[in-house]
Amino acid sequence: MLKQILTTLALAACLTAQAEINVIPRPAQVVEKTGTCHITGLDAKNVKWQKDKKVKGDEAYTLSVTPKGIVAKASTDAGLFYARQTLIQLMDKDGNVPCVEIKDAPRFSYRGLHLDPCRHFHSVAEVKKQLDLMAQYKLNHLHWHLTEDQGWRIEIKKYPELLEKGAQRVEADGSIHKGYYTQEEVKDVVAYAAARHITVVPELEIPGHELAAIAAFPNLSCRGEQTTPRIVWGVEDIVMCPGKEDMFRFLQDVIDEMVPLFPGTLFHIGGDEAPRGEWKHCPNCQARMKAEGLTKEAQLQSYVIGRIEKYLRGKGKTVIGWDEILEGGNLDTTAIVMSWRGEEGGIIAAKAHHHVLMTPGSQGLYFDHYQGDPQAEPQECIGGYSTLEKVYSYDPVPQSVREAGAADYVLGVQANNWSEYIHNDAELEWRIWPRALALAEIAWSPVEGKDFKDFQRRVDGPATQNLVKAGINFHIPSVEQPGGSCDNIVFTDHRDLTLSTTRPLAIHYTLDGTDPELDSPLYTQPLQLTKTTVVKTCAELPGGILGPVRTITAKKVKGLQPASKPAVADPGLVCSIHYGGYRTVSSLQDTPDEVCVIDSLYQLRNRVPVPASVRNVRDYAAIGEGYVNMPENGIYEFRTMNAQLWIDGKLLVDNSASALQRHSRKNAEVALEKGLHQIKAVFLGGIFTGWPTYWDDAAVGYRLSGHNRWHNIRPAQLFH
Ligand code: ACM
Ligand code: ZN
Repeated sequence: MLKQILTTLALAACLTAQAEINVIPRPAQVVEKTGTCHITGLDAKNVKWQKDKKVKGDEAYTLSVTPKGIVAKASTDAGLFYARQTLIQLMDKDGNVPCVEIKDAPRFSYRGLHLDPCRHFHSVAEVKKQLDLMAQYKLNHLHWHLTEDQGWRIEIKKYPELLEKGAQRVEADGSIHKGYYTQEEVKDVVAYAAARHITVVPELEIPGHELAAIAAFPNLSCRGEQTTPRIVWGVEDIVMCPGKEDMFRFLQDVIDEMVPLFPGTLFHIGGDEAPRGEWKHCPNCQARMKAEGLTKEAQLQSYVIGRIEKYLRGKGKTVIGWDEILEGGNLDTTAIVMSWRGEEGGIIAAKAHHHVLMTPGSQGLYFDHYQGDPQAEPQECIGGYSTLEKVYSYDPVPQSVREAGAADYVLGVQANNWSEYIHNDAELEWRIWPRALALAEIAWSPVEGKDFKDFQRRVDGPATQNLVKAGINFHIPSVEQPGGSCDNIVFTDHRDLTLSTTRPLAIHYTLDGTDPELDSPLYTQPLQLTKTTVVKTCAELPGGILGPVRTITAKKVKGLQPASKPAVADPGLVCSIHYGGYRTVSSLQDTPDEVCVIDSLYQLRNRVPVPASVRNVRDYAAIGEGYVNMPENGIYEFRTMNAQLWIDGKLLVDNSASALQRHSRKNAEVALEKGLHQIKAVFLGGIFTGWPTYWDDAAVGYRLSGHNRWHNIRPAQLFH
C-alpha cells in the first residue's frame, strides 16, 4: 500500500514537472518515461557507472533514469564520458533528471573543430576553453593548423629559427603579430584534450602555405630568396621545393619532433593551394621530375605528398590532406581526404574508396563566414554566408555517395575557423558558438528525425545558459532588413521599415535614440515612418538575452536632389594620384603628384603594378572626381569598397573609419533626380589588416530602393 502511494506521488510529481529533453546533440534513441529522479551528484553514490561489453560501439552508451535511480552503461571510458555529458544536460539546477531510457551512439567517428592560430594566435587558455565545450557537445577531434605563410606556431627544438624568424610578422601598419606554442604547452593541450576524449590532429602544411618556415630557412624554396612571413591573406606563390633533398630532410626532422607530441593516429599534411609556377622554372624540381619520370608539375605535388605520407605511415600515422591531395594521382589508399572546396573532392574520394572528412565551405562549415547580412552583422568576416540553420541543414553524406554505396567512407564532418578576421578570443567565440552546436548535432545524431525547430528550442534553452555560464561571447542574430540591410535610408513622404532575423526571434525597437531593452516595444509589423527617425533595434533570445543593437537612421528629405547642368561634360573622371602609403583619407595632401583622366572607376586601383605577392608595391591613393549620370528619378542605395564615396558634395559611404577594409558595410541611400550628379570616390591603396585594397574592384554600385538588382556605375555614366 505504501509503495503504491509513493508510486502515485512520484507519478503526480512527474506529471507536473515532466521536463523537455534538451540534449545536444540529440541522442540516437530516447524513450521518455514519466517521473523524475533526484540526485545530489554524479558520483558512484548517485549514478551506477557500469562498464558493459554488451553496449557495442567505441563511443556508445545507454542511460536509464527511473525514479529509483540512474544507470549508465558503456563498453568504453569514452562511452561513459558521453553518458555523463548527456546526464549533465538532462539534469536541472536542483538535481532533478527526467525519467528516460537513452540508447546512444554517434553517427560519425570523426566530429571535428579546426583552429587556425597562424593568422591570429589563440592562447592555450582559449584553446582549453574550446576543448571544454567541445567535449560537452561530444565533438572529439581538434584539427590544429599549426603552420602557415603568416606564422609558424609550434616549437621544433632542432630548428629554433622557426620561432625566431617564422613566429612573428610585422603588419603593413607596423604592428607586430606573434605567438607560438612550446612543446610543453602542446603536451599540456593534448593531455587536456585526451582527458575529454578529444584527439588533437596536428597540421603541418606541405608543400604550400609555408612561407613562415621559408622565412627561417630560405633554402626550403626553389629560388632560396630571403623573405619574411606573409602579411597578406590568400595564396602565396613561394612554396617548398620538392627538388631538394634538404627540404625533405627538414620536413622529416619536424615530423620526428611532432609525432611524439601527438599520440593520435591522424596527422594532417595540408596539401591545399600550392601554386606550381616556381617548380616549372626550378632546375632542382625539373631534375626531380626527370628522375622520377614525371611529366606534369601536378605529379610533383603528389610526389611530395606521397613521400611524406609514406614517412608518416612508417611511424604509424594515417595522413589527412585537403582535397587537392587527390590531384596528380597515386594517392595511397589509406590517406584521408578532407573536402573543403565544396563537396566534390569528398564525393570523388569516397567513390574511389578513400576515407573522407567533409568540411565544405559552400555548405556552412567555414565558421569564418558571415552569420547574417554583412551590412547588419557587427563583426567583419572574410566573406561567405553560414547561418545556424545552414550548418544544421547539412548532411555530411552527399546523396551521390550514398547512392554509390560509399557512405561508410565518410568518417565525419568538421567546421573550420580560419582566423584572418578573428583578432581576439571574443571574435573566435562569436564565430564558433552556437554554430558548433549544429555541427555537433549533424556529426552525432541520426539524420532521421532532423528538426530545426526542435534544435532551436534546445539551443535557446539550457545550451545558451551553458554558453553564458562558460563566459562565451556567442553569436546572436542581428536585426536585418529583408532584401538587404542599410543603416542610412531616406524617404520623401513615408517609409515602411520591415525588420527580420535569420531565424525566428523576438525583435525589440526604440524610436527615441535609446538602446532597446527587454521592455522596449516588440516589433510585430513594418514600422511606418513619416518623419526623420533613428530606429534602434535588437533581437531577443528566449530567456531574455538581447543581441547586438543596430541603428538605422531614416531621414526624411524634401525631395529629390536636382541634377547638375555643367557647361562641359567630357567622358571619364579626373583622377588625382598621391603616391605614398596613405592609411587615412584626412592624411592626403592638397597637391596631387599626378592628375589624369580615367574612363572607369576600375582604373582608380590599377595605377601601379601589383604582383601576386603584393610585395614591394609603390603604394598610392587616388581620387576620382566628376559626374555620374543617374538613369531615372529615385531613391538610390550606394555601395563601394573604396575608402569614401561622395555624392553631390556629401560624404555618403565612409569605409575609412573602419580598421578593417574587406567589404562595403556602410551602404547609404540618397534621393536623386535623373541626370548628372557630382561624384567623388577615394581609393586608398595598401594592405589593411591583411587585405590589399588593390584586390578590390574599386566599383561603385547602386540600386533603386526596394529593388534587389545592383548595377555598377559604367564608364558611359561618367563625365567631368
Ligand atoms: C583551405 O581553406 N585553404 C583549406
Ligand atoms: Zn624547386
